[in-house]
Amino acid sequence: MNKVPVFVLIFTFSAIFLVTYEGCNKYVKKTTIEKESFGTLPNGKKIDIYTLQNKNGIELKIMNYGGAIVSARVPDKNGNFADVVLGYDSLQGYLKDNPYFGPIVGRYANRIAKGKFALKGKVYTLALNDGPNHLHGGMKGFDKRVWDAVPEKVKNGVALKLHYFSKDGEEGYPGDLNVTVTYTLTNNNELRIDYSATTDKPTIVNLTNHTYWNLAGKGDILNQEMMINADKFTPVDSTLIPTGELKSVRGTPFDFRKSRPIGDQINEDDPQLVYTHGGYDHNWVLNKNVPGSLTLAARVTEPISGRVLEIWTTEPGLQFYSGNFLDGSITGKNGQVYRKHDAFVLEAQHFPDSPNHPNFPSVVLKPGEKYTQTTIYKFKTVQ
Ligand code: GLA
Repeated sequence: MNKVPVFVLIFTFSAIFLVTYEGCNKYVKKTTIEKESFGTLPNGKKIDIYTLQNKNGIELKIMNYGGAIVSARVPDKNGNFADVVLGYDSLQGYLKDNPYFGPIVGRYANRIAKGKFALKGKVYTLALNDGPNHLHGGMKGFDKRVWDAVPEKVKNGVALKLHYFSKDGEEGYPGDLNVTVTYTLTNNNELRIDYSATTDKPTIVNLTNHTYWNLAGKGDILNQEMMINADKFTPVDSTLIPTGELKSVRGTPFDFRKSRPIGDQINEDDPQLVYTHGGYDHNWVLNKNVPGSLTLAARVTEPISGRVLEIWTTEPGLQFYSGNFLDGSITGKNGQVYRKHDAFVLEAQHFPDSPNHPNFPSVVLKPGEKYTQTTIYKFKTVQ
């Protein structure tokens, strides 16, 4: 029998080891956060975009203009990544024609009837930027502000801590408000958003995030299956202001207690779906035994890719908007034209027009108190 010299054996095994190690290493991603320039505002202010990546390769891009989520690349059941968020390739798009693609929304997310509310007997008047009503914080809400951003490495991932100071009287709201919003991407494939705020005068606060999701990364969302953990919703009038009723979803197109395609009943001849320009744009009353506890609000499944998005929140309500106002006039990332029902928005929040409905959970924040809300988006897959 021929003897193989020892050094040949050592050399061969080392070579095999190195090739295998390198091969595996390609797939082991690092948890990183990096900053790049994303352009300049007309007033000369520089805007940055942060890329957060977890060890499984999930990658989020967040800019400090509006604290907006610009992209989210997540895997399907076969490990193929796609961007599941609508938006623009450049800052200019966000400044031009922007139906709230991805930002933090405040000081009061959603609508306030006729832009009026009272605190301690004093009536406050806000801008009417949605027909007869006030929407999403007014003409220049938190979505159009530049936030201070601090990237952080945290225990199980990376985080971007954003801060904005909203001064007394801004957009008509009383009180200096200090707002902090922290986006954390964990190695458990979660995007966690922690919001907090304090004020020096009684005010109202309702913060949310307004990302447009499409788990297929393209096309419409009508076959994506939605579950909303709510027995009731808040019906609206023709201007999308809640009537005040908490109505059972049973027997209505609003019953998403069992997962079913979004498009199932979206075109039904129900006045509630007509007021909204054809589709969902309503607040669901989330089932919660303990107010303020972090519970599952919704789960969306895309049957072909197997991508799943779960939303957990401490908030009492969830606005589900089915992209009804998208009309093909916007060309977004990679030349994609955004048409009606090409995305869903799930806004964890307090109920619309709460200041004018004493039966809704309160949105009043007083000096010495701390507003907090946590919402977690979990990216999963099914076979
Ligand atoms: C929210 C509202 C919708 C619409 C969008 C932005 O989701 O509820 O009616 O205004 O924002 O287009």
